[in-house]
Amino acid sequence: MNQLSPVLEIRGVSKRFDATQALDHVSLTLYPGQVHALLGENGAGKSTLIKIMTGIHQPDQGAILLNGRSIQVTNSSQAQLHGIAAIYQEPMIFPDLNVAENIFISHRGRGAVVNWRKMYHDASDILGKLGVHLEVRSQARGLTLAAQQTVEIAKALSLKTRVLIMDEPTASLSVHEVTQLFNLVRTLRNQGVAILFISHRLEEIFEIADHITILRDGKLISSKPVSEVTTETAIRDMVGRDMESFFVKDESRRDDLILSVQGLARSGVFSGITFDIHHGEVLGFAGLVGSGRTDVALALFGISPADEGKIIYDGQPVTIHSPAQATHLGIAYVPEDRREYGLVMPMSIAANITLPMLRRYLTRLGIVKRRAEETTAEEYRQRFSIRASNVRLVTSKLSGGNQQKVVLSKWLNTKPRLLILDEPTRGIDVSAKAEVHHIINELAKEGLGILLISSDLPEVLAMSDRVLVMREGRQMGIFTRQEATQETVMTAAMGQKITVGGI
Ligand SMILES: Nc1ncnc2c1ncn2[C@@H]1O[C@H](COP(=O)(O)OP(=O)(O)OP(=O)(O)O)[C@@H](O)[C@H]1O
Ligand SMILES: [Mg+2]
Repeated sequence: MNQLSPVLEIRGVSKRFDATQALDHVSLTLYPGQVHALLGENGAGKSTLIKIMTGIHQPDQGAILLNGRSIQVTNSSQAQLHGIAAIYQEPMIFPDLNVAENIFISHRGRGAVVNWRKMYHDASDILGKLGVHLEVRSQARGLTLAAQQTVEIAKALSLKTRVLIMDEPTASLSVHEVTQLFNLVRTLRNQGVAILFISHRLEEIFEIADHITILRDGKLISSKPVSEVTTETAIRDMVGRDMESFFVKDESRRDDLILSVQGLARSGVFSGITFDIHHGEVLGFAGLVGSGRTDVALALFGISPADEGKIIYDGQPVTIHSPAQATHLGIAYVPEDRREYGLVMPMSIAANITLPMLRRYLTRLGIVKRRAEETTAEEYRQRFSIRASNVRLVTSKLSGGNQQKVVLSKWLNTKPRLLILDEPTRGIDVSAKAEVHHIINELAKEGLGILLISSDLPEVLAMSDRVLVMREGRQMGIFTRQEATQETVMTAAMGQKITVGGI
């Protein structure tokens, strides 16, 4: 493949933010028809590199070469003109426009009068080439996240993209959707597009990548064809030491129940949800994205309460109608969307971590005890290796994965008895993920009941005592640890009723 000439070269790029050297003389070469994976721990500099390629940041040093010639990329429309496009974890879709309009939105401003017939025709054409069935006149609002990503890819293609950058595109997708996305990526590769792909899921990298580049602390550690990389060497290069890539939960389930849910329903959203969680037990929630797992969590935490069914908490029947009440009962919910529910971005790490327990950190006059707040936050910073020079830093400046660690710290600090974790390791790197798994294990041993929602199937299987599978708002079955395999869980999630296991 390397006989081809490179389409894009990054040479010796450096970038500094205040005290952080985000990139330190990094070089990278992208070839047409090649999927190039970029790996590294949270805060290693991956997104910064991409932002430099797309003109969002300017490098302090170094050069970008397109087809052998040095180019300046000072903004994103310039990147677009050079044929460089990026797709981020959250698609940038206009919900009120339809599919075709979204695909051609960037062509507007170029002075052309819109030829509607041609636009719909061209949009169908591009989607057809990608092998995707999407109605070009349907509104973007109703599309699944996976479908929205497809629209973004189609948009990139309509712009004659030669370099497509994907920053954690699979983080919010389920196994099935990842398979579809990868088919798309392969189609693009066969059409000669150069793809730069970022993901924290190593098994995905080995499935899709031709070449792997690893960054650590802003420095290039290795860059090799996939055939020369193993899970062990990749982890060693990312983390800087050897590490077990996998963790399996210890036995810690006790006999008494913390929670029992019977026939829980919310009209039009989910129904017939029946399960128990024992002290010390992790109950995994598996299912496709959109299957209603988060809705059940929102009901248990009182954000959008159930309208039918029984909840027995600690032996007492309860109705949970607000998050304040849920918190009072000792239930904590770590939400999947850290931007919407998780963090107050302009506030510091310390302020975010202590927020739900603020009273504990106030003097009698209502003044924040900064020292106490910082001590708590510092404990979590070290425990999770949150990459930040100090806990007074505002959370908006942290990398994606480090923000996730702050959300987790914040809820653990409420010392809950029932912990609901919604995609707790999304966007988190291998070592932090192992740390989160270790912490789940420890918390279960302390007797907490844990409800773990995750689209990362290997994670659910390794960490759960039992796995409940949902599909389209319904419970398809509950599997014991022995029964729960990749196959049984996927079959149930895809719609085949399987009757093994009890409650
Ligand atoms: N605008 C900014 N201001 C200050 N520091 C920043 C800014 N953007 C990034 N950084 C810092 O630069 C470093 C690299 O961040 P970057 O977002 O590139 O990491 P990443 O490899 O994409 O991590 P993740 O896997 O968590 O997404 C981090 O220490 C981050 O806190
Ligand atoms: Mg990033």
